[in-house]
Amino acid sequence: MKIDVVQTADRVVPERVAGATALVIDVLRASTTIVTALGNGAACVVPVASVEDARARKRALGPATLLAGERHGDPPEGFDCGNSPLEFTPERVRARTIVLTTSNGTRALAASRGAGAVGVAALVNAGAAAAWALRRGTDVVLVCAGALGARAIEDETCAGILVERLAAEATGAALTRSAEAARVLNRRYGKNLESLSRDAPHARGLAAKGYAADLVFCLALDTTTVVPIASPDVDKLVSGPR
Ligand code: MLT
Repeated sequence: MKIDVVQTADRVVPERVAGATALVIDVLRASTTIVTALGNGAACVVPVASVEDARARKRALGPATLLAGERHGDPPEGFDCGNSPLEFTPERVRARTIVLTTSNGTRALAASRGAGAVGVAALVNAGAAAAWALRRGTDVVLVCAGALGARAIEDETCAGILVERLAAEATGAALTRSAEAARVLNRRYGKNLESLSRDAPHARGLAAKGYAADLVFCLALDTTTVVPIASPDVDKLVSGPR
């Protein structure tokens, strides 16, 4: 098995994901939000690239659909929810379809479309996501969303945790240089995840906007076993088998 890490959504090229199992990571906050929404009973999450497409998708799907997402961290005008996982309570999301557009996370999902299978990973479901990828028995590509083309230490730390867990089970796995680099971040932050809320620029930005509670929620490890799985064309995500 080969284990690779793509450090930003913009660095995904078809050859890197073709035939592999991709796990898309956007710890702050899209991956954590998708995991939470499906864990709280949402029927599915439809990831969409642009705000305009998201509005059109809600119109097509009907008024029971929840329109969610962010630009610059906040919900665009007229949206039902933002991108805070804390908004996706069971009361709000049970049995509902959620159309989601975010700055980087939903772009990373779209970019991973050519993979053999696509799942969503965050810190909150790291163990379950690694187990799902291992069960597939193919090469694994961990796709970090990053932040508008820049690398994000919270995503790469999560990738490093996944690399450790995958490599521990898949003896003889070959790690790419970027997978080794993610492992280094795991050594630095893996046992001290809350320090990412100080060291990660996006975390500081979210705190400044009043989303500090999201950081506590998103930087917790292995709090759920939900693994969102994409349909082959990454048109929608549903909760995978547990
Ligand atoms: C993204 O997709 O860039 C993030 O999820 C942004 C956010 O924290 O809302």
